[in-house]
Amino acid sequence: MRTKGRISQGVPIRTEEEIAILREANRIVADVLAALAALVKPGVTSGELDALGEQMIRQAGATPSFLGYHGYPASTCISVDAEVIHGIPGKRTIREGELVSIDVGAYYNGYHGDAAVTVPAGEVDALRTRLMTTTDRALAQGIRAARAGNYLEDVSRAVQSVCEAERFSVVRAFVGHGIGQQMHEEPQIPNFVTGDRGPRLRPGMVLAIEPMVNAGSPDVRVLADGWTAVTRDGKPSAHFEHSIVVREGDAEVLSVSPYHLWGQG
Ligand code: MF3
Ligand code: CO
Repeated sequence: MRTKGRISQGVPIRTEEEIAILREANRIVADVLAALAALVKPGVTSGELDALGEQMIRQAGATPSFLGYHGYPASTCISVDAEVIHGIPGKRTIREGELVSIDVGAYYNGYHGDAAVTVPAGEVDALRTRLMTTTDRALAQGIRAARAGNYLEDVSRAVQSVCEAERFSVVRAFVGHGIGQQMHEEPQIPNFVTGDRGPRLRPGMVLAIEPMVNAGSPDVRVLADGWTAVTRDGKPSAHFEHSIVVREGDAEVLSVSPYHLWGQG
């Protein structure tokens, strides 16, 4: 992987020039997320959300990061209720009471932006509300831990402890990632402690932190479409993601949207 800055412990340190582009790519992502989230209501299809997402990404002068990635067939991932991540948008109609996770990536001027939110379709029950707010709060606490001098595992631990305090479980089969000229770069970012404290965080590392949190067991399986990850027990799941820059103090959130806790006000 090419990088203009240096590499620390296998993780690129981005220059401020690179970060300025990453900020723009993620601004596009955040705007698309906000538009799609506002469109989620009973009766809309996931394919309609995807079509608007692709149009907005291209209108902004970017290309959809996901389209064609390892053969992925759409511009966004729309994962409904027991779908955890990588739901392929299509004819599925969203129904009252379901949780809808929207994941968007935009490639702009050589760099990727990536973020996700989970929103309710109409009124959702108390469990789903708590799952959604807990996942967003876990992301916020993970971001709070993502400061220079901490270890990557401090981020993982912060995310996990918020979720498990609510008796929810974090998915083990998928992790967050570094992001830059490639959508997936070093390091992998588990949402659980592994016993490997990982790299020491340095200013200029750019990370996509993305807790995937299940109401029941952490176990997932992938559907026959080869992409859609669903909970094995059929219980709901939520997913929030931000791309951030590690700084000396609080991280800089690149993908601020009105549908995330972090960065509101
Ligand atoms: N945010 C997701 C990720 O980091 C989206 C990737 S979807 C894919 O893995 F289709 F592009 F793989
Ligand atoms: Co991601």
